[in-house]
Amino acid sequence: MNYRHAFHAGNFADVLKHAALAQCLRLMDGPLQIIDTHAGAGVYDLEDGPAKKSGEAERGIARLAADARAPGAFGPLIKAVRGLNPGGGVRFYPGSPALICGLMGKDDRLTACELRPDDFGLLSAWMGRFCPRGAAMQVDGFATAAAQTSGAGQLLVHIDPPFEQPGDYERCVDTALSVTGRRPGATVMIWLPLKDLETFDRFLRLLEARRPPPVLIAELRLRSLVDPMAMNGCALIILNPPTGLEAELEVICRWSAQNLGDSGAQSSVWAL
Ligand SMILES: C[S@@+](CC[C@H](N)C(=O)[O-])C[C@H]1O[C@@H](n2cnc3c(N)ncnc32)[C@H](O)[C@@H]1O
Repeated sequence: MNYRHAFHAGNFADVLKHAALAQCLRLMDGPLQIIDTHAGAGVYDLEDGPAKKSGEAERGIARLAADARAPGAFGPLIKAVRGLNPGGGVRFYPGSPALICGLMGKDDRLTACELRPDDFGLLSAWMGRFCPRGAAMQVDGFATAAAQTSGAGQLLVHIDPPFEQPGDYERCVDTALSVTGRRPGATVMIWLPLKDLETFDRFLRLLEARRPPPVLIAELRLRSLVDPMAMNGCALIILNPPTGLEAELEVICRWSAQNLGDSGAQSSVWAL
């Protein structure tokens, strides 16, 4: 496993993904059982180490935080960022488990899965101190989510792999359909990189062939897809989206294309 999320923390993809995840938490009725299948390290210091070296957050959370007129759809994400930076600024950025911990209700529960030993160490230390209703587990997140059969309340599963393994696209589809097969009505949010159109279309064909429950797709293209080796954008696939999410996603994607993309950046939100 070479991928380390610290290099990418707070970038354009995190802003879109985390704004959408924060809206799911706001819009879903509790109590919630939440599984974060690929959790990462938890919290990232943007002024030190890999995040500072890459500088990716500058075209991401730094631009959002600097926009005094940012749309209200970003409110829950901004609230979670402020919670980690009580003195102001955005030195500390919440990865998905810290975002969830900051926004979850008192009856909600989180399971955060991470395989990489160093990031798991950071995650479990942070959650042990700051997330009393969460548990960090060093287990395969796909298998953990797919095995989930019981639990009180609504289930929200966040699937965010590094896509280093060739089978990750198939595993996303298998896991999402396994979750909604066992727990009808569960909301599953999958993050995908957008490099070339064929990979994205193939993923959608795989999903469609399995006759999924209602699916909402949010697509953000920062630039045209002429270089298939570059991350030209990203997409979110949401099975059983909560009521109201589509309108929030349209606002989030439009702002992201206008403020984080090249000229000609585009976004769209549609139902499969
Ligand atoms: C894209 S990062 C996660 C970022 C995080 N979800 C966030 O939004 O802040 C993917 C993470 O998944 C971990 N990982 C890779 N394969 C895994 C697996 N099968 N189960 C659990 N974690 C895995 C990687 O070590 C990496 O930290």
